[in-house]
Amino acid sequence: HLPVDVDISALPPGQQIVVTWQGRPVFITHRTPEALASLQDTALTARLRDGQSRDLQQPPYAANWHRSIDPRYGVVVGICTHLGCVPAYRPMPEGNGGTAGGYACPCHGSRFDLAGRVFRGAPAPYNLPVPPYSMPSPTLIRLG
Ligand code: FES
Repeated sequence: HLPVDVDISALPPGQQIVVTWQGRPVFITHRTPEALASLQDTALTARLRDGQSRDLQQPPYAANWHRSIDPRYGVVVGICTHLGCVPAYRPMPEGNGGTAGGYACPCHGSRFDLAGRVFRGAPAPYNLPVPPYSMPSPTLIRLG
């Protein structure tokens, strides 16, 4: 597989683009300052099943609270770890129980935060996977 380059220079804060990588949807999200604050909010992290992403192997650059290389940009595989539906992006606070947004799976209701971390009580057993990627420049994400 060839790497997939994604130019994120025109992606506004609060918005997401979905790109296809190896036949799978990858969510690339430009997080707002409010979203970044939310991801570090202990009221939120206390509700996560695996807030430190310990349960599954993650790329070393994803072993942090934002699960990404640049905290401002989320990069996750958009396939629910329960039975494989594509979670919906919910950028607004009311979309995810008072947090600064996240993802909701339409099939059985799993909820994830904006770093793809699954909330407790969801049928999804793991966080959304972080794919292998690099950032050759501050506005370029290279998948694969
Ligand atoms: Fe997402 Fe079941 S496939 S909750």
